[in-house]
Amino acid sequence: MKIFLDSADLNEIRKVAELGVCDGVTTNPTLIAKSGQDFKTVLKEIVSLIPGPISAEVVSTEHKGMLAEAEVLAKLNDNIVIKLPLTPEGLRACKVLSGQGVRTNVTLCFQAGQALLAAKCGATYISPFIGRLDDVSIDGMTLIRDIRTIYDNYGYETEILAASIRHPRHVIDSALAGADVATCPYKIIAQLYSHPLTDKGLAAFLEDWKQSGQKAIV
Ligand code: G3P
Repeated sequence: MKIFLDSADLNEIRKVAELGVCDGVTTNPTLIAKSGQDFKTVLKEIVSLIPGPISAEVVSTEHKGMLAEAEVLAKLNDNIVIKLPLTPEGLRACKVLSGQGVRTNVTLCFQAGQALLAAKCGATYISPFIGRLDDVSIDGMTLIRDIRTIYDNYGYETEILAASIRHPRHVIDSALAGADVATCPYKIIAQLYSHPLTDKGLAAFLEDWKQSGQKAIV
C-alpha cells in the first residue's frame, strides 16, 4: 500500500522524506491555511521534496472556475494532482480533466454511491473520509470495503485513497480492506513505527553488548 503524507507543513514533509516511506502528499485548503504560506510557493516546495503525486485542491465551486484553477495548478509541476470536491460541479470538472489526461483526486467522499460516480468520471483517486464518518458514529471502514468491492466488480481503476485518518489502526484496517493508499498526518506515521517493546528490546541489546566487552564494529 502507498503511504501519502496529509500535510502542507514543510518540516513534517522533510522529516518523512528522510524516512523514505512517503509516496506522495495530499493537501487541502485547511492544511494550506495552517502552513501560513502562499499556496503556489508551498506547492513548489513540496514537489521539490517528494517525487510523487501531490494533491492540490481547487477552491472554486463551479466547474469552469475549477478548470481554470486546475490549469494553473497543473502547470506548476507534472506531479500535481488536481483535488476536486465530490459535488456535481466537481464531477463535471473531473470528467473534463480525466479526458485531458490530468490526474484528479475527488475528495470529501462519505458514501459508496459518490465513489461510483467519481470512478465513472475517470477520477485517479477517490478520498473516502473515514475518521469524519467514525466521528458521527458511522463505520468509516465499511465505506472502504464497499468501494473496494464495487471497483473490483466492474474493474474501475480509480485508486482508493483512505483519508481523514485518526490513528494507526485506520491505516492497518485500510490496508486489510484493500485501499490503495492511506494519507496520514505526520503523527500517525510516527505512531506506525513506534512500539515500546522495540525501544525496550533495543535498550536491552545495547546494554548486553556493552557488558560483553566486544570491540567497536567500526
Ligand atoms: O486531506 C483530507 C483529510 O485527510 C482530512 O482529514 O482529519 O481533517 O478529517 P481530517
